[in-house]
Amino acid sequence: MDKFIVNGGNQISGKVDISGAKNAVLPLMTAALLVDGKTTINSVPDLRDTRTMIRLLKIIGAEVSFEANSMSVNASNINNLEAPYDLVKTMRASFYVLGPLLARFGEVRVSLPGGCSWGPRPVDFHLKGLEKLGAKISLESGYILAKAKHLYGNRICFDFPSVGATGNILMASVLAIGETCIENAAKEPEIVQLCEVLNDMGASISGIGTDKLIINGVDKLDSIDIDVIPDRIEAGTYLIAGALMGDITLNNCNPKHLEDFIDKLKLAGANISSTENSISINKIDSINPVDVTTEVYPGFPTDLQAQWMVFMSVANGRSSVIDTVYHDRFTHIPELNRLGADIRLNENKAEINGVKKLIGAQVMSTDIRASAALILGAIIAQGKTEISRVYHIDRGYDSIENKFKSLGVDIVRINE
Ligand code: UD1
Repeated sequence: MDKFIVNGGNQISGKVDISGAKNAVLPLMTAALLVDGKTTINSVPDLRDTRTMIRLLKIIGAEVSFEANSMSVNASNINNLEAPYDLVKTMRASFYVLGPLLARFGEVRVSLPGGCSWGPRPVDFHLKGLEKLGAKISLESGYILAKAKHLYGNRICFDFPSVGATGNILMASVLAIGETCIENAAKEPEIVQLCEVLNDMGASISGIGTDKLIINGVDKLDSIDIDVIPDRIEAGTYLIAGALMGDITLNNCNPKHLEDFIDKLKLAGANISSTENSISINKIDSINPVDVTTEVYPGFPTDLQAQWMVFMSVANGRSSVIDTVYHDRFTHIPELNRLGADIRLNENKAEINGVKKLIGAQVMSTDIRASAALILGAIIAQGKTEISRVYHIDRGYDSIENKFKSLGVDIVRINE
């Protein structure tokens, strides 16, 4: 298992190119299963999760090629309508094959995802939504079996605007007979891109970017070329690195996708300027404590709360982070406290008492975003930090050590 060794304390400066968004490309790859032909996807981030999804699509029978961030998926010869446990357990987004395969082939078997490292993550909205469209769902030996000769449009109202369930129901309903209405739908930019791509393929979706999506089913979808939107969570992670340690510019990003987050950075004292596709930030000398509460888009993203906590760990006073999306996503706190942070957890609220400095230590990654937080902690800590289990970070950040090295961070990967 790989480790990162980071010698912290270096000032950083320079430019970073933001990669395509992990949470956009994974559903787009499964949307390609809706088409009897070849879909080309550009600006694909080279991630462990992208490669896991490639393995899954190949098991299902798709032909996939991936080179220089460009991917083609040919779904003309699908011959195995099953997502096996071994892959689903390593990446929950494998569940995204459920909607498209059911819609196109009338049957699919997908391993039921287990919990994840920070707690239970149910899939009940996905399954109830598919049942509303007429699917028969059963559980057999740990696998969800969904069947429907035809899917029929219906009204589906989610209890919570789930990103994954919105994506799955969208991909199922585009080929259903009649009109589907998804209420309390997710509005995340990755869902907006999925809707736009499906429409470019020939689907009929309106209300894009609102919490009410209307889908009129069509008979078939066509091949297209796609450019994946930039990863707003990767961008947010590097912005915090800049606010902590130096003057940096992010290229190929979309500041509009980070408005709430950028407002919070400004409240903390950041000097930020942006163009349509770049953001520059300067190191903050004295960080103001700023409370954040995660919300669904356009609110503060849950995928940036761990990184924000590192930032607030060295702020000038006390602050809090409340996660309303995942109430138990806090496995990074004990690891950050090992670096000298002073963070206490009370239910879904973390209280952070700013300290003067962090000090290097041995820490362990527990999930994708928690690992990013540990790297941020390591680059501000005095001395050496050893971060183990970095396979978590490889799931969601393209070339992270090379990008940080180019900014002047002393980081090396050790293979053990
Ligand atoms: C996606 C993102 C993840 C992000 C999360 C929230 C991908 C691949 N992953 O995950 O990075 O942290 O959105 O922005 O895009 N829920 C249920 N029942 C369900 C589905 C969800 O109760 O059937 C709950 C979840 O437990 C959670 C909340 O709804 O509390 C939001 O989850 P959801 O938006 O579905 O997250 P994911 O799509 O899994």
